[in-house]
Amino acid sequence: MSTEPRSATANAGANIALIKYWGVRDSALNIPLNDSVSFTLDTTRTTTTVTFDPALPADELVIGGKPATPAATERASRHLDILRNMAGLTWRARIVSENTFPMGAGIASSASAFAALTVAAAAALGLSLDTRTLSRIARRGSGSAARSIEGGFVWWHAGQDDASSFAEQIAPPDHWDLYDVVAVVEESEKKVSSAQGHLLAKTSPFLETRLSLVQNALPNVRQAILDRDLATLGPLIETDALAMHFVMMSSHPRLYYWTGATLEILQAVEKWRNDGLPVWFTIDAGPNVHLICEAKHHQALVAAVRALPVVRDLIIARPGPGAFLL
Ligand code: PMV
Repeated sequence: MSTEPRSATANAGANIALIKYWGVRDSALNIPLNDSVSFTLDTTRTTTTVTFDPALPADELVIGGKPATPAATERASRHLDILRNMAGLTWRARIVSENTFPMGAGIASSASAFAALTVAAAAALGLSLDTRTLSRIARRGSGSAARSIEGGFVWWHAGQDDASSFAEQIAPPDHWDLYDVVAVVEESEKKVSSAQGHLLAKTSPFLETRLSLVQNALPNVRQAILDRDLATLGPLIETDALAMHFVMMSSHPRLYYWTGATLEILQAVEKWRNDGLPVWFTIDAGPNVHLICEAKHHQALVAAVRALPVVRDLIIARPGPGAFLL
């Protein structure tokens, strides 16, 4: 066997969930309690090079030019173990990763990071895997990474086990020119990680209510995407984002991801809609608000968001491609 280092580079996008993933059936495998739906973003992306090298004593991770924390390196290393086992190779690797968006911008980078890492490592190891398998592997790094393997509009089937929990494309990126305008109100890292949060979901008395709402909403969300019908989709995504945050806020211990600024923006959205601007919100495990509108309204929306004193920064994204090799 050659001892030449084996290297590959991949690029993947973050995604914004329209129906959220919150709560796990199996935390070791990241099997979620419910199906979720997202679109992959074009501007918030991670590029990762993985080099397996027999001369390395241990895995190394560099993010944005700086050595990562031991905890982050360990998490990446465990992920590489899955792929090393599949390939029957024990070589350690150097992982070099760059994000197009600042790590502290309050935008989760784990989905793009684990999607890019999975695709780059599989290629470097000479594994040729279909997108379903890549999605299943990415899921084990971070649940939402399962959705970033695919581009455009994506459905993650919760499934029952490792084999049945993977994401699939509903429609390609150019199907619908939606905008995700992210109103960044806080740039610090979240205090409670989503991994911890997923475990707490079961302590909320509202979990079952949310899961049944999701069950009813899912087919309508899919149809609204296929029909490019934001007037139907918008209220469904707002209801689910709120339901997820009600579960978070009613968990033991409580999880308050919102700040006062979050609520100010939600109230601004009501006002903008009353004034004739068709925009709807969704919120991840943090205080920033994702504002969803169609292309023809995005300039008016960006101007309205910029005028809010609580907004510190703004990220603009549209549906983008899935993970790809460079
Ligand atoms: O993939 P994780 O464990 O970071 O979980 C993501 C959770 C949410 O962003 C809040 C919702 C989602 O579906 O993306």
